[in-house]
Amino acid sequence: MARITASVYTSHVPAIGAAIDMKKTGEAYWQPLFAGYEPSKQWMKENTPDVIFLVYNDHATAFSLDFIPTFAIGCAAEFMPADEGWGPRPVPKVIGHPELAAHIAQSVIQDDFDLTIVNKMDVDHGLTVPLSLLCGESVGAEPPQAEGGPLGGQRSGESRERGGGQPLAWPCPVIPFAVNVVQYPVPSGRRCFQLGQAIRRAVESYDQDLKVQIWGTGGMSHQLQGARAGLINREWDNAFLDRLIADPAGLSQVPHIDYVREAGSEGVELVMWLIARGAMSDVAGGPAPTMKHRFYHVPASNTAVGHLILENN
Ligand code: DHB
Ligand code: FE
Repeated sequence: MARITASVYTSHVPAIGAAIDMKKTGEAYWQPLFAGYEPSKQWMKENTPDVIFLVYNDHATAFSLDFIPTFAIGCAAEFMPADEGWGPRPVPKVIGHPELAAHIAQSVIQDDFDLTIVNKMDVDHGLTVPLSLLCGESVGAEPPQAEGGPLGGQRSGESRERGGGQPLAWPCPVIPFAVNVVQYPVPSGRRCFQLGQAIRRAVESYDQDLKVQIWGTGGMSHQLQGARAGLINREWDNAFLDRLIADPAGLSQVPHIDYVREAGSEGVELVMWLIARGAMSDVAGGPAPTMKHRFYHVPASNTAVGHLILENN
């Protein structure tokens, strides 16, 4: 049986990816942020899963206003880093896990969550920045190549590294799971929390012994446009982290308007963290998770950065 071993939560600010790619992580502005992820990188090395189920949002990159799936599961064998206007990030391509993704789609759709199946998709900063933060830095200037090039990913397991801890491949396959938090109507926190529970049931009904991590990304407080651009709310963010750990069911009842008022228009990305949290064992009556790491930092670009690692017991 496959099982969810841990959940990871992190902001996915694009400037963090740019700082890594341009080798600025040691600069005074960035150093405190990256220092906060050092324990996480160590933890990832010691707790490399077989698969990461990575909940993120596409920022009108692979999707557009032409079509907007609410919940989309990536079932392809691989996903290329997207060109978001400055060329693709020089990071490894993402190797998928079509078999597990297809199983989760089957189980979750039969469990009444109507997912969109995606068989071809590029992945943007929402997915690649969290991978960089937890799995090391990017490899330098060369763009990734479509077929088995120098940055070609591996099927699973071992992580090859270049000097300086920079990966040539992500350490394991990743199932991208894109949530619409860009164009209203977006799904409620309650729906996201329920979906996480369905994803846990799906993973646990897969007949291979796989260790699966589920990641929730986006947030924390940020507003990128309008009169309140630059809004940061430390108190609300930290109360969100407290409740995500101790009272996720109660937190899932918070309406969108509270996120937008308190955490800014893009703060609503945080509903995605409730998908990952809903997939943890304690939500289904198991023991409480262990908090392995918690970190909060302001600012990164215009955004508050939050990060949490919870391990299942
Ligand atoms: C920015 C973009 C994001 O998608 C995000 O979640 C935070 C910040 C930005 O453009 O700065
Ligand atoms: Fe975002």
